[in-house]
Amino acid sequence: MKSAVIYYSRTGKTRYVAKEIEKMTDATDMEIKDLTNRSGISAYISYAMDIFDNKITYIEPKHVDITDYDKIYIGTPVWGSNVAPAIFEIINRTDFRCKDVVTYVTFKGAGEIKALDVLNNLVRQKGGNIIKSFAISSSDVNEFTFNTRRALKNLENY
Ligand SMILES: Cc1cc2nc3c(=O)[nH]c(=O)nc-3n(C[C@H](O)[C@H](O)[C@H](O)COP(=O)(O)O)c2cc1C
Repeated sequence: MKSAVIYYSRTGKTRYVAKEIEKMTDATDMEIKDLTNRSGISAYISYAMDIFDNKITYIEPKHVDITDYDKIYIGTPVWGSNVAPAIFEIINRTDFRCKDVVTYVTFKGAGEIKALDVLNNLVRQKGGNIIKSFAISSSDVNEFTFNTRRALKNLENY
C-alpha cells in the first residue's frame, strides 16, 4: 500500500508530524508551499485578507498527483479555527475518490475540533473516505514530540 503526506506548515510543527508519519509508513512527502507572504505578523494580516477574499492563495506545487497512492495523510495548522489557505486550495484541486484519508491538525490552544470538521468536510466533498483524524497541540514545545509520538502510535494499524 502506497501512502503520501500532503501538508502545509508555516513554522515547522505540521511538517514535523508529516516527517514522523513518513518515517513510520514510508510515505511520499508532498509539502505545499504558500506563495503569499506569511512571515511574522504578515501571516495574520494576509490570513484576514484571505478570509475576506474567500481564502484564495497561490500555492506550489499547484497540483499533486495521488493516482498511484491508496492512503493519503493531510495535515494543516489551525488558522482561525479553520484550515490554512494553502490546504484549502490543494484539496479543492485534488480528486480524493477511492482514497482512504487520515487528517490531522496542529494548533496552539483552541479551534482544533472545528478545523478538523472543516478539513474532513472538504475532503469528503472531493470524494475522500476519512478513516482517522487527530489533533496535536503545539502550545508546549517540550510536549510536542511526546504528543506526536503518542498520536502516531494509534496510527500503526492504519
Ligand atoms: C494566521 C494564524 C491563525 C492561527 N489561528 C489559530 C487558532 O485559531 N487556534 C489555535 O489554537 N492556533 C492558531 N494558530 C497557531 C497555529 O495553529 C499553531 O502554532 C500551529 O501548530 C503552527 O503550525 P506550523 O508550525 O506547521 O505552521 C494560528 C496561527 C496563525 C499564523
